[in-house]
Amino acid sequence: MTQTTFTPRVFSGIKPSGGLTLGNYLGAIKRFVGMQGEMETVYCVVDMHAITVWQDPKELANATREVAAGYLAAGLDPTQSILFNQSQVSAHAELGWIFNCVARVGWMNRMTQFKDKAGSNAEKVSLGLYAYPSLMAADILLYHATHVPVGEDQKQHVELTRDIAHKFNHDFKVDFFPETTPVIDGPATRIMNLRDGTKKMSKSGESDMERINMTDDADKIAKKFKKAKTDPTPLPETYEGLNDRPEARNLVEIYAALSDMTPQAVIADYAGAGWGQFKPALADLAVAKLAPISSEMARLMDDPAEIDRILATGAEKARAIAEPILKQTYDIVGFLRS
Ligand code: TYM
Repeated sequence: MTQTTFTPRVFSGIKPSGGLTLGNYLGAIKRFVGMQGEMETVYCVVDMHAITVWQDPKELANATREVAAGYLAAGLDPTQSILFNQSQVSAHAELGWIFNCVARVGWMNRMTQFKDKAGSNAEKVSLGLYAYPSLMAADILLYHATHVPVGEDQKQHVELTRDIAHKFNHDFKVDFFPETTPVIDGPATRIMNLRDGTKKMSKSGESDMERINMTDDADKIAKKFKKAKTDPTPLPETYEGLNDRPEARNLVEIYAALSDMTPQAVIADYAGAGWGQFKPALADLAVAKLAPISSEMARLMDDPAEIDRILATGAEKARAIAEPILKQTYDIVGFLRS
């Protein structure tokens, strides 16, 4: 079999469920924007993934617009990147079905995110939640994407995408789907909960104080950092000194990601500083970086028709890439086209 060379292309997505958090911004959106111009970039609001758990139909469209507004406010340029919502490109669902028939139940059973989300309630969750990683593989491979920037929590799903591509290519004796590389780099690939440094910051946590939302105003951001859990010890002299101090490490990494510094450089600047000095500095930095984004999000949300127009144009561009790839997949599988 000759080895196909795939054009470098980035794909990534965010679910419109709940609001966007600082974890989504630093672990995903900021990095997505940074990859713009380096290679072709395709970014999606994955509304079909959102409905794997119940979404109020009255709120889903608005939540979809809000994620799109988050991307745009953070610097995504719809003339440079393709930006669309998943349900407007039906090829995602079609390739997802084929991948349901490629992926093995045993592979799905190993997905730690499903186990975490389903917990002891696995019998009652939707079949979609279980099959979700195979739809995610379809999202990526429908664009023959070679690079997928994600936070640490999505690594296993991108690895599964590689397994699905490999099995498809092997079963059908083709070299059709690329081997996708997860791009998990920088200091912000796992931003933790502000009240418990051993848990990921997520949109669905119980208390609003444990996360920073991209729509929080300056007062809220400052208050949440001020109340963030820490330990009584001042900042260490070296980065290694943060070992076994999850809350302290998290705040240093947030500072590093917001200021485009390495955590080592942050430690060098604040070695020996107490929290009374570090937390206000972090709050000021976060407000300076996030306030312009949240006010731009609010401005964009005032004109939903404009967001819808951007998503429609993006969906058209996405279909132009996705549909030929789906067609070729159908031919490889042997589906009759009359
Ligand atoms: P989702 O919507 O849960 O999160 C979107 C992105 O944000 C990252 N992220 C974080 N990064 C660092 N620290 C955190 N606390 C944090 N919380 C969230 C996630 O890692 C992710 O990159 N299954 C995906 C969506 C998806 C997708 C795809 C991603 C669907 N299809 C194809 C890439 C490619 C998800 O639920 O992300």
